[in-house]
Amino acid sequence: MELVSKCLQARDMAYCPYSRFPVGAAILTADGAIITGCNVENASYGLTVCAERTAIQRAVAEGHRQFAAIAVTCDIKDRFVGPCGACRQVLMEFGSDWIVYLAKPDGSYKETSLSELLPLAFTPAHLGKN
Ligand code: THU
Repeated sequence: MELVSKCLQARDMAYCPYSRFPVGAAILTADGAIITGCNVENASYGLTVCAERTAIQRAVAEGHRQFAAIAVTCDIKDRFVGPCGACRQVLMEFGSDWIVYLAKPDGSYKETSLSELLPLAFTPAHLGKN
């Protein structure tokens, strides 16, 4: 699956000298483009940006706002690992109906969805309403 291959390639670009925990992400836009991201750490640890947020910020900066799916991966081989809570919220900004593929290093993957990963979410739709 191409989106999974791309997230595995993106993981190889991770800058993670502190955690040594590389993460890769690849977003499929509604118009068929694939935008990748990796985690980018910092000596001031709290400034680290996750792979998923790197990818979505790149995508938005390149003019994309409608998304179909995201694939994420890390080096953990024996289970499927989901995005952190902060990243789930950032993805939710652009809709709840994303497909999320959780990929292992061997390319096997589990399909889930953003609404399954972040139920009862706070979304842009709630702002300005009572
Ligand atoms: N990380 C991600 O890139 N995405 C996640 O969803 C979870 C954590 C990164 C942040 C940090 O560079 C490393 O993994 C360890 O937390």
